[in-house]
Amino acid sequence: MALLDILCFPDERLRIKAKPVKEITQAHQTLIDDMLETMYQAPGIGLAATQINIHEQILVIDVSEAKNTPYCFINPEIVSDSGKEIMEEGCLSVPDTYAEVERADAVIVRYLDRKGKEQQLEAEGLLAVCVQHEIDHLQGKLFVDYLSKLKRDRIRKKLEKQQRQK
Ligand code: NI
Repeated sequence: MALLDILCFPDERLRIKAKPVKEITQAHQTLIDDMLETMYQAPGIGLAATQINIHEQILVIDVSEAKNTPYCFINPEIVSDSGKEIMEEGCLSVPDTYAEVERADAVIVRYLDRKGKEQQLEAEGLLAVCVQHEIDHLQGKLFVDYLSKLKRDRIRKKLEKQQRQK
């Protein structure tokens, strides 16, 4: 397995829309294992392929305390949502930055698992928020897009400065 480099805001490659996976190959299995390892190492609770500059609709998520409940979503689609919830979010592509975002409190997501089997998951709370955040990545959207332009520009400047200093 290998750790993958994570793109950071405001990298324009985070804005690329991911394409659906047509056929799940052995290369995808390796990619999913590497994404899980990268997510756990970061540490984070979700990672979209977009964040590692691969523009296919693949996500990994594990919101469990023990980090032993990995989900892999291929070609995920939210088929229904309900309720509203405001949660403080962060993102591996927007380091050291947290902000409140309003999202649906519960979602039903349809997807393929890593074996290519069709699945449907009813998620609520943190898992639901994480699924919505990660699916946004596949559409080229970041949680900072929900904030005011003023706040987003402030975050952009802070991160650009940090990246220059590396
Ligand atoms: Ni994120």
